[in-house]
Amino acid sequence: MNSVIPVLDPASPQAEAINNLFLQVLLISAVIFAIVTGLILIAISKGRRRQTLPDQNFGSEKAEIAWVIGPVIIVLWLVAISANLVITLNAIPDVKPQSADNAEEVQDVELIITGHQWWWEVEYPKAGVISANEIHIPADPKRKFRIRINSDDVIHSFWVPQLGPKIDAIPGRDNYLWLQASKPGTYQGRCSEYCGAQHAWMNFLVIGESEEEYQKWIAGQQKKPEATTLISPLAMAGREYFFKATCPRCHKIAGTSAQAMIGPDLTHFATRSEIGSGVLTNSTENLTLWLKNPQAVKPGCKMPNFKLSEQNLKQLVAYLETLK
Ligand code: CUA
Repeated sequence: MNSVIPVLDPASPQAEAINNLFLQVLLISAVIFAIVTGLILIAISKGRRRQTLPDQNFGSEKAEIAWVIGPVIIVLWLVAISANLVITLNAIPDVKPQSADNAEEVQDVELIITGHQWWWEVEYPKAGVISANEIHIPADPKRKFRIRINSDDVIHSFWVPQLGPKIDAIPGRDNYLWLQASKPGTYQGRCSEYCGAQHAWMNFLVIGESEEEYQKWIAGQQKKPEATTLISPLAMAGREYFFKATCPRCHKIAGTSAQAMIGPDLTHFATRSEIGSGVLTNSTENLTLWLKNPQAVKPGCKMPNFKLSEQNLKQLVAYLETLK
């Protein structure tokens, strides 16, 4: 699924087009490199033992014309294939490039991605689903997701090497991109614009799955988390602590009084596979580590060290793990 050099293992038509351009440029560069190196080697080997100056040539019209026209053809060809790719990648029909938040427009955007220091908010406006750092899309060569990207603070850049081009997430400006996966898989995404101390830990996952699995996932995310009666006494105590403590000042859990959108939406936290934008995999052990002191795991992140007691820590972990 995740190759060593993901950018050379494209999984969408856009990424394939980028990969093709890269390979063409690589090929032409390799040929030029071979010719130049070859000529140098020939000159070295032929002139090695010579005591006198080699033949001196001045003002060869033919040679001058050849080395002007040759590179011009190569450069024009590179310009043509690059421009062609840019036009193909930017072909997003019916998009008003700079638009206000009008409802009509939101209708046909299937996904809204907002960059934050240092995590990604993921919203499916039609389905009314909000998540973080994990994007699910149906893997289908014919299905394109039109996504809108912006930022809440500084400039970030959204990039899934196997699925297509980078696109900047800029505060106050909407950028658009097609997101598409031709085959099922888990694709690593990165923030590719330096955005502060934890830029390196602003990763996300794009999960390409069958239409059926995708619909199931959406339906699961639309539901409210489990009824409190179904959870253990430890998790119940954690729930009580969550709302008593400062957690709801930053986080949202749908169907509860926690409605803040400063940190990631926790409604279905337990269904995600990573914590802290890829800094840890989501397990009981790692969640404990994270809550114990987020600053030790991801220094500078917005979540402070709350110095929780061992008991509260256990309770909170138990509660958060019920959010499926
Ligand atoms: Cu966000 Cu780099």
